[in-house]
Amino acid sequence: MTDEGSSIDPSKPSIARVYDYLLGGKDNYAVDREIGDVFKRDLPGSVAIAFANRAALIRAVGEIATTTGVRQFIDLGSGLPTADNVHQVAQRHAPESRVVYVDTDPQVLVHGRALLQENDRTRVVAADVRDPDDIRHHPDTLELIDFDCPVAVMFSAVLHHVNDEEDPAAIVRYWRDHVPAGSYFFVSHFRSGDNPETAEAEGVLQQTFGRGRWRTDEEIESLLDGLEILDPGIVPAPLWRPDAVAGPQHGSGERELTVWERLIAAGLARKSG
Ligand SMILES: C[S@@+](CC[C@H](N)C(=O)[O-])C[C@H]1O[C@@H](n2cnc3c(N)ncnc32)[C@H](O)[C@@H]1O
Repeated sequence: MTDEGSSIDPSKPSIARVYDYLLGGKDNYAVDREIGDVFKRDLPGSVAIAFANRAALIRAVGEIATTTGVRQFIDLGSGLPTADNVHQVAQRHAPESRVVYVDTDPQVLVHGRALLQENDRTRVVAADVRDPDDIRHHPDTLELIDFDCPVAVMFSAVLHHVNDEEDPAAIVRYWRDHVPAGSYFFVSHFRSGDNPETAEAEGVLQQTFGRGRWRTDEEIESLLDGLEILDPGIVPAPLWRPDAVAGPQHGSGERELTVWERLIAAGLARKSG
């Protein structure tokens, strides 16, 4: 289990805080802004990636809440509270929706507890996505999630922080095997590509955080092995159901996407009966 007492270290950049900075948030330190500025200066489209990812997540939650009847969400690697969080989107459409947020970052836990646990249908759990059994059996998870009913398991921009040797496919498989048929899996993930921007952005992330692996669409698809990948498949995030009922669009099928907007892929899968 993640050490609940581990404290915020303002001298080292954090994934959650750099991402918050790119999204225009205020929960970050100079060290995070320094890295964020490298992205903004050398990789100017990286802000678009963050927004495209967030917008796809919001559309996916809206789709699940409005079209599937699923009323419980586990948001793995949830990040710092931002404009429209999973529980706000889900509860807007279906107020009875319950959301468990999970993150290792101590800042997410402090701010998350203040801003995300705003009603008795949300919890913020300090745990590591690489230890799914810990998350599954955490008392806060068990309080909100009924594992006899379908669950939406959200892996938004987190699995590319898990190295190959840590077996990200096994993490998804664990959840696949521990939720009932009719459950949904959302994944967004940095895509490897044959262009200098991708190589540079991946290099900066790996150097900064000492980990991470970008994957091809085929590799991302294979993380969802045994699940039915729903239309339109694993696609650049702005092309994932751009006309879905909820949320900002940030790109559509109408125009050519920039290389940046293609750097992150999204997809939704279902566990069949
Ligand atoms: C890029 S942010 C994505 C935030 C949010 N899911 C979204 O898509 O907008 C990645 C988040 O994953 C968290 N994270 C990275 N590795 C993790 C791990 N092993 N266990 C739990 N959280 C992790 C980071 O702390 C960060 O908050």
